[in-house]
This record gives sequence, C-alpha cells and structure tokens, in this order.
Amino acid sequence: QTGLVTLDSGFKNTGATTSGITFLNGEAGVLRYRGYAIEDLAEHASFLEVAYLLIYGNLPNPEELNHFTSEITRRTLVNEGVKKIFAGFPVNAHPMGVMASLASSLASFYPESIDPHRTPDLVNLTIIRLLAKFPTLAAWSYKNSNGHPVNYPRNKLNYVQNFMQMMFALPTYEYEIDPDVEEALNKLLILHADHEQNCSTSAVRLVGSSQASLYSSVSAGISALWGPLHGGANQQVIEMLDKIHQDGGDVKKYIEKAKDKNDTFRLMGFGHRVYKNFDPRARIIKKSCDKVLNKLGIKDPTLEIAKKLEETALNDDYFVERKLYPNVDFYSGIIYRALGFPIDMFTVMFTLGRLPGWIAQWKEMREAQQPISRPRQIYTGSTARDFVKLEDRG
Ligand code: SDX
Repeated sequence: QTGLVTLDSGFKNTGATTSGITFLNGEAGVLRYRGYAIEDLAEHASFLEVAYLLIYGNLPNPEELNHFTSEITRRTLVNEGVKKIFAGFPVNAHPMGVMASLASSLASFYPESIDPHRTPDLVNLTIIRLLAKFPTLAAWSYKNSNGHPVNYPRNKLNYVQNFMQMMFALPTYEYEIDPDVEEALNKLLILHADHEQNCSTSAVRLVGSSQASLYSSVSAGISALWGPLHGGANQQVIEMLDKIHQDGGDVKKYIEKAKDKNDTFRLMGFGHRVYKNFDPRARIIKKSCDKVLNKLGIKDPTLEIAKKLEETALNDDYFVERKLYPNVDFYSGIIYRALGFPIDMFTVMFTLGRLPGWIAQWKEMREAQQPISRPRQIYTGSTARDFVKLEDRG
C-alpha cells in the first residue's frame, strides 16, 4: 500500500467534510439548522422557510419567501410521461423504489441538469424544479400503489396543503384540508429536514462529488434512506409495535429479545450513531403524538406500547450503558398513521422532509468544488498468483 491508510469502517470516527449547514451535539441532544434551534423552527416556521434557510443559509424575509414559494408553485406539475413510468411498475411496488427511479428520471426530462458546467442559475432552477415536483411524485407513487386516479397539484394551496390534497383527495368527494393535520405534517417535515452527514446525505454527497446531477444524487440518497437501519426504521417501528400489541403487549419480553445477542431482533427506533442522549426530534414528536391523536380523536394502542417500551428500556442497564434512546423514527410512524398515511409511505415522508437537506448539502459540496470522493482500503485478499488455463485447473 502506498501511504498510510486508517481503517474506520462505518466512518464512526471520520469527518468527511466541513459544513456550515447543521450542527449536532450528540451528548447534549442539540440540533440546529444554520444556527437556529430545531425546537424554535418546528414551533414557529413553515417547511418552505426551513427549506430556504437550509439551502441559502438565512431565514427568508417576506419578499424572498414569496418569490421562492411562487417559483416552486408554478413548477409543481410533472411531465405526463411520468405516468407511463408508473404504468411499468407492479401495483405492489414499494413507493421508495418508485421514488428512487422517478428522482433520477428527472435528469432525463431535464437533461440540461446533467451538464457538469452548469451555471449557478441552472443549478438553482434544478433545485426549484426538484422541490416543486417531489411532492407530486410522492403523492402519485401512493395513488399508483392503490390504483386510485392521481390528483393534479392545485396551486392556490400552500406546499403542505397541496401535498395533502394530492395524497388524499378522491374524485368522489370534496377534500377538506384539516388544519391539525397540516400543522402536524409541517412540523414533521421540518424535524426531518437535515441531519449533517448521515448515511443518505453522505450518499448524496458522494454521488454528487463525481459531478453527477442533483437528481441522480438525490436518487442515491433515497435508496440509502430506504434501509431499515436508517429511514426505513420508521416503517419497521410500527410493524414492531403492532407485533408486540398482537402478542399481548408484553414489552419486557421484547426488551429481553433486543438484548439477546443470539436474537436478530433489535428495538427499532432506538439508538443513534451520534445522539448518546435524547434525540431532540423524538422528544418533539412524542409530545405531538398525544396532541395530534387527541385532536383527531384517535386511540392508537401502539402509542401506549411505545411509551412503555421507552420507559422500560431507559431503566434497563443494557440500554443505559450503551446510551440507547428513542430516535426520530420511534414515534413518527404513530403520527403518520394517525394522519392517514399507509405504512409503506412512512419512509417516503422522511424523504419529503429530508429533500431540502440533501439539496443544501449537495449545493455546499459542489460550491466548495470538493474533489471526487474516493476512499482507500486495507487489502486482505490473495497475494500475487500465476494464471492457470481452464483445462489445467483441477
Ligand atoms: C436514522 O445518522 C443519522 O443522523 C440518522 C438519522 C437522520 O436523521 O438521518 O437520525 C435517521 O437513521 C435514525 C436511526 C434509525 N434506525 C433505527 O432505529 C434502527 C435501530 N437502531 C440500530 O440499528 C442502531 O442503533 C443504529 C443503526 C441507529 C446505530 O448503529 P451504530 O451507531 O452502528 O451502533 P451499534 O450498532 O454499534 O450499537 C452499539 C451497541 C451494540 O451492542 P454491543 O455490540 O456494544 O453489545 O448498541 C446495541 C448494539 O447491539 N444496539 C442495539 C440497538 N442499537 C444499538 N441493541 C438493541 N436494539 C437497538 N436498536
């Protein structure tokens, strides 16, 4: 090997880049976007304000927000050719797989975004187009999975309302925007918007470092987020909670299974590479669970099971010694289900929230003209061997 290579599998102790976007303090459970506390943003901002903040670095003034919003609103329609792509998928295709394909297909509809010498204006247009069309693609992937007709964007609605009507409206009745659902969704999207160099963001940066288009870089991020150890955990948590509920709610039995090294069962939604204290997002989502379910008059037994699991785990040495706390995925599925989202759309909801973060990180990496990511390895394979002809091999 030429030069010294330090092995750090899983990048547990490797800083991949400098970044001015998101600050995490895992020990103190602190999360800030461009210096603003997540608690303040979740409470007072709109999702598009937070998207603007992450991508351009500052909270927008009213004029900036209006311009940003109108630029997005007038591009929410997607090319009718996208419907033909949907037609090729089996009805039970998981929406995350559909979304990964559709995101990269945008590079075919807008080939100018592939140009490595794209100007800042073209980069910005690419960003706006992706923010504008992503909710339409997400809602259409849901409609495709249940055989319902798609809804077109209605540009008199705001970003979150438009997504809601594209997701839930049916030709058979007038869809009413529920402000409680809108408020909860706005908050959830903000809480998922960025999280420094997590697995999927690192995938976006790595793919983008080859000067691939934003669309294919985000497609890589969607694929990485789908994994059950990452964003896919929000779907796994609900499946786990439902299983515990069907099994009589015996929380202790599942805590013991999670501790058993010979058992593949893990407590999904628990643990985090960075947070060795509470995930501040989980704390906010847990509080919203009670509020949203009460407002919607929904009784979901899995919420009580989740609370019992948390309480039992936080008093169990195995979890305390390893500093395992509920993460962002532990309670989010309970709210998504209460808001009417089907379980296989939970991780798509995560991508919808994380999109501005992926965009901001890709933009920062490209503007810094960072070199192509190309890590090394420690070779452990065979030493040099002479070739043996097929007929001479035993
Ligand atoms: C997200 O990185 C981000 O920022 C991600 C994210 C974001 O916003 O982008 O926050 C979103 O992905 C949240 C995480 C969602 N995933 C899950 O909830 C899946 C369950 N969690 C685990 O798989 C795990 O905790 C990870 C993947 C989240 C973190 O894995 P690490 O940092 O590699 O930790 P590890 O697997 O080395 O675990 C350390 C110890 C091990 O025990 P020992 O070998 O020391 O005896 O803790 C144990 C693990 O076995 N452990 C768990 C556990 N998580 C860790 N044991 C039981 N149940 C768990 N959930």
